[in-house]
Amino acid sequence: MKLLVLNGPSLNMLGIREPEHYGRETYADLEQKIRDYCAGRGHEVTLFQSNHEGALVDAIHQAYFDRVEGIVINPAAYTHTSVALLDAVKAVSIPTVEVHISKVEQREDFRQVSFIRAACIATITGLGTDGYLRAIDRLEEYYDHHR
Ligand code: DQA
Repeated sequence: MKLLVLNGPSLNMLGIREPEHYGRETYADLEQKIRDYCAGRGHEVTLFQSNHEGALVDAIHQAYFDRVEGIVINPAAYTHTSVALLDAVKAVSIPTVEVHISKVEQREDFRQVSFIRAACIATITGLGTDGYLRAIDRLEEYYDHHR
């Protein structure tokens, strides 16, 4: 598969930011883990992190023109605020999995809303950075059933 893995605001600060929620692995560690997993499974992967909502919207649109087959996205705080990211995923109709490193359902009330979820084939929370790998598994399963 041709995959795009997107990470939203402050995920560049992984390893430094609130390790009790997000662990001690850095963003570079996360990138390496995803690259190794994709290499082992024969997937082509592009990774992108931005702290800017519009840049994430642009990356989702570009995925359409690049014929990306699956998106894994941790929209971070934009999960709970962004209709723009929801609309972008709807616009491209690419199977997308929402990932959260922490168990968002056990955290503050304001984290209980996810706008993007309505456009996603699955949501994975609370598995740490392994959640990204499980999201890739979900995309594989999706294509096992939809080819
Ligand atoms: C997060 C959870 C969000 O509520 C938070 O704003 C983040 C990270 C997670 O990966 O657990 O930045 O998406």
